[in-house]
Amino acid sequence: MKTIEHIAIFTSGGDSPGMNAALYGIVKKAEQSGIRLSGIRKGYEGLIDGDLVPLDAHKLQKMVHRGGTLLKTARSKRFLTLEGRQRALENLQKNEVDALIAIGGDGTFKGLLAFSEICDLPFLGIPGTIDNDLAGTDFTLGFDSAVNTAIENIDKIRDTAEAHNRIFLIEVMGRDCGYIAIHSGLGTGADAILIPESAHDFIQLLEKAGSYDREEAFIVIVSEGDELGAEVAAKKIKEINPDVDLRITKLGHVQRGGNASAFDRMLGIRLGAAAVEALLRGRKNVMAGILNNELSLTPFDRVVKEHQVNDELQGLLKIFGN
Ligand code: F6P
Repeated sequence: MKTIEHIAIFTSGGDSPGMNAALYGIVKKAEQSGIRLSGIRKGYEGLIDGDLVPLDAHKLQKMVHRGGTLLKTARSKRFLTLEGRQRALENLQKNEVDALIAIGGDGTFKGLLAFSEICDLPFLGIPGTIDNDLAGTDFTLGFDSAVNTAIENIDKIRDTAEAHNRIFLIEVMGRDCGYIAIHSGLGTGADAILIPESAHDFIQLLEKAGSYDREEAFIVIVSEGDELGAEVAAKKIKEINPDVDLRITKLGHVQRGGNASAFDRMLGIRLGAAAVEALLRGRKNVMAGILNNELSLTPFDRVVKEHQVNDELQGLLKIFGN
């Protein structure tokens, strides 16, 4: 095995609060181990274009709390092509990179799997996505911050909803996974939570939402991946009772921004340091995660397997209304 002297790092896919904390964890651990680091700007796009920059540990120390990512990020179509991946490989060779750390979500890990077919450098992954949709970690970086942002905003919507006795359908992010919806819905006392993973009794919801003379708000949290979706749900409620006073709010990208929560800062620092450590111990093509509050390393092909809201939480939905 070749000694690792130079590690390159990038952030990829949708940014998530905690990515900067992970970069900070990486630079500090690398500093301690005498490893040279390069940042790659704009994810796989920068890898293809050879956009390597030095990483400034001092700057990262001052922005450990910040959302977004110092290295910027992108969703790269070019990396889906073999030609794109070959150019990326040439850039790594040209810059004498010995190992690669990627911080991102599902698409990032699928990219690494494809890249590993033509590049035998060791890769290490860190789960960075607000969706919490990766196996091999209890929590992905940014999920906790996104849920806190969602909760803060849903609480505000409740104030106005109660004032008008209105129905609100509030759409939250999560792609095909209902974790953000279930956490933010239960935490705000929502009347119903619609997630992609579990069939909901929409007829009962319609009756509750559309039929009675309302002297209070009715809050429904809809995960963006839910098969019905907020618009169709609203239309169906209106069909039952055209007079209901109903609004739809999509929380959207506000969930991706803002300072990282205390949990995500700590998670980022732990996973950043663990990723460098794992590379130095000779591990490759695994994602660093936290399972039962212990660091763990999971092979990429297991990470990208479907990860859905677990049965215990789905059971809670039945108790708290669905
Ligand atoms: O994967 C993170 C995420 O925010 C999803 O929740 C959402 O579906 C998607 O990214 C939005 O992507 P974009 O910022 O490219 O519109």
